[in-house]
Amino acid sequence: MAGRLIVISNRIPTGDPSGGLVVALHDALLARGGVWVGADPDPSEEGRECLHELGDIPYRKRAFRLSKTERQNYYSGFANSVLWPICHRRTDLIEIKSEYRADYLAVNLRLARLIAQDLAPQDVVWVHDYHFLPLAMMLRSLGVTNRIGFFLHIPFPNITDLAILPRPEDFARWLASYNLLGLQTRGDVARALEMFRADPRAEFLRDGTVKFDEHIVTVASFPIGIDCDQIEATARRADPGPFGAANPRELIIGADRLDYTKGLPHKFEAFGRLLQGRVDRDARPTLLQIASPSRADVAAYRQITNDLQAISGRINGQYSELDWQPLRFVHRSVARDRLIGLMRRAEVGLVTPLADGMNLVAKEFVAAQAPDNPGVLVLSRFAGAAEDMKGALLINPHDLDETAGAIDYALAMPLDERRKRHADCLAVVRDSRISVWTDRYLARLASCVPTLALSR
Ligand code: G6P
Repeated sequence: MAGRLIVISNRIPTGDPSGGLVVALHDALLARGGVWVGADPDPSEEGRECLHELGDIPYRKRAFRLSKTERQNYYSGFANSVLWPICHRRTDLIEIKSEYRADYLAVNLRLARLIAQDLAPQDVVWVHDYHFLPLAMMLRSLGVTNRIGFFLHIPFPNITDLAILPRPEDFARWLASYNLLGLQTRGDVARALEMFRADPRAEFLRDGTVKFDEHIVTVASFPIGIDCDQIEATARRADPGPFGAANPRELIIGADRLDYTKGLPHKFEAFGRLLQGRVDRDARPTLLQIASPSRADVAAYRQITNDLQAISGRINGQYSELDWQPLRFVHRSVARDRLIGLMRRAEVGLVTPLADGMNLVAKEFVAAQAPDNPGVLVLSRFAGAAEDMKGALLINPHDLDETAGAIDYALAMPLDERRKRHADCLAVVRDSRISVWTDRYLARLASCVPTLALSR
């Protein structure tokens, strides 16, 4: 019988599970039993040593306490000011400080010790995202031979950007300590293999796995998805929007975390180009951009917020009419059901990241459409979702004219073409549905070469 599942992620959900990934992991934990471990969102100087119970459900949730300084150095520092910009090709935003790395390693080591104490031999450990890259290496150093999988939700960095890390040679060693390195796209797998190929410590085995020192790691892509049935059902009954008399004729929607990787300035400027180039002055497209606040402790996030306020002010100042405001920049979160209703109402979904692991908003937009009269997805080539979603209008977000042209084309697209493109995208969304993703990942992890006990 399969052992328990131990899930590690920086954020652990509180309250009822909602959102595709959370529900899928919740279901996997319900099926096997286990523990979901993550950082406590409330930093505290106390309780640093302990994991404490949150849950009252058939599996346990345990919050891992961080001090304020640790949270600053491990989360805002190494995770979000070093690893995040490196993985998203924004090496200009990297802030290297020795205390960031030291606390990142210290937090991972403390977590490894606490997990190791509680592990039974058949338990399987599934680690999520860049906050915990060295966790398997630390667990191995404590003698843990259980199967340990890692899934990187964000892009795998290219080899030249990796060189900017302090001690870049650690990165490959950290990842090689997992049995399964799961990545979003085939492009990510190619970059990971390129890193191992360039490393004299790595050897490629005949079955495609990588032997690194005494470890064997399998590298594979698992494009993450959404709970499309649930979104389709929500969209069918959703309220189409709060617009009242100001109901826009042509609605373009964007919904992103407010992050410099999402290409929001590019999106606003491309929309400005579209307005500038309008032949029909009566055409009044509206871009509704919902941008949920994120990581305000990091300076680059405060800067991008100011930039966006300035750009949206300029565009609205230039093009607004007495009864029309072309750009609505809503800097707050919007309830999920309402957002899905807005997506269904929109003629165009505009997703313009400069780099993105997958981008689930693109998939949600597709699932939210009415198949007999669907809106059109305009999607950056640099989102992981673009690797398979060929029915979208793919754009280079750096090219403002190309993006403006694609929005224009989308707004005028005949119904037949809209239906065809939507059906193609929906097939991809359904193929990668989140419940299948979880099962596929765990089945692959179960079939990986086991780790042998090492003499330490
Ligand atoms: C991305 C990361 C996640 C992270 C999320 C929100 O999707 O891959 O690991 O949880 O952003 O970011 P936050 O820093 O607020 O957790």
